[in-house]
Amino acid sequence: MLHPQRSMAAAWLAVVWACMSMAAAAGFLDELPTMAFEEGFSPLFGEDNMVKSADGRTVSITLNRYTGSGFISSDYYHHGFFSASIKLPKDHTAGVVVAFYLSNGDVFEKTHDELDFEFLGNRYRHEWKMQTNVYGNGSTDRGREERYLMPFDPTADAHRFSILWSSRLIVFYVDGVPIREVPRTPAMGADYPSKPMAMYVTIWDGSTWATDNGKYKVNYKRGPFTAVFSDLVLRGCRVSSDIRLASVDDQDRCAAAEAELMDAEYATMTPGKRMAMRRFRQRQMLYTVCYDTNRYPEPFPECDVNMAERQMYWQWGESKVVRPRVRPRPGHRSKRRPPTPMLVSLQQAD
Ligand SMILES: *[C@@H]1O[C@H](CO)[C@@H](O)[C@H](O)[C@H]1NC(C)=O
Repeated sequence: MLHPQRSMAAAWLAVVWACMSMAAAAGFLDELPTMAFEEGFSPLFGEDNMVKSADGRTVSITLNRYTGSGFISSDYYHHGFFSASIKLPKDHTAGVVVAFYLSNGDVFEKTHDELDFEFLGNRYRHEWKMQTNVYGNGSTDRGREERYLMPFDPTADAHRFSILWSSRLIVFYVDGVPIREVPRTPAMGADYPSKPMAMYVTIWDGSTWATDNGKYKVNYKRGPFTAVFSDLVLRGCRVSSDIRLASVDDQDRCAAAEAELMDAEYATMTPGKRMAMRRFRQRQMLYTVCYDTNRYPEPFPECDVNMAERQMYWQWGESKVVRPRVRPRPGHRSKRRPPTPMLVSLQQAD
């Protein structure tokens, strides 16, 4: 159980977040047609640890001491919008990784493309972290990861995570708020994912790296660990033939479909959405390769380097916690006024 003050603060954070996602015009998510599992997905591994609801619209995947579990879209897509509502397992989840991503790694072993949302479990009473990453044509030695704290408790309710992937732009969304934008730049070259990809959903044991660089491993006595997926959305140009062949027909069809994709609200970055994105990044981001000059002395060409933000990154590193500051007044504690959430940097997470 969370400390009552913390859970009240969490409720207030949830209200702030709901306002932010409304301001970012996140309503477009409600109009997207969602799918049942059978309409577009197949089991990938650990099928015994996968439970579908009667209507097939909710899928629970579990990691226990024997196996994790996962599923994959039955088709590959050349650009599109991919989305799922996700509720993460509670309590002690150190070492547990839940992933929602696009990839073609099963087809192109050495030159694969990938766009990731990864959720990294944590110790009891420590927050989950979220990571995004981008790979193109096997650029695995050039990780482009970013890590963030989520502005809500992802184990209390489901939240919507989405990836827009077009030939010009990649946008990661959380509840309709853009949190990362990767425009295609010529300098990025083949690092920009450009071959058809499938959508993957998995839960697995990431003991070696997921929590504080592998310091805390999965404790199966605290399991099993179950993540719940619903509101599955696959809006993309489905590739009909063998993706290795990249047929002319598929290419023409997908180029035509792209015009429609780019017209959609989720592919349009308005000033309001950019402002919401900056706000999210200033408050929630723990790490970005764009400011890690130890690892990459020259920032990647697609990085939008903001000097004030970079300065902040140097200060907080990964130790940032976003936590409401509650100033208890001696004698009486007001129950009416919710505490004001504030960014508290330079504070150890434990
Ligand atoms: C992708 O990588 C392969 C192998 O390194 C290389 O031969 C190919 O030219 C690359 N593709 C592009 C579009 O650069």
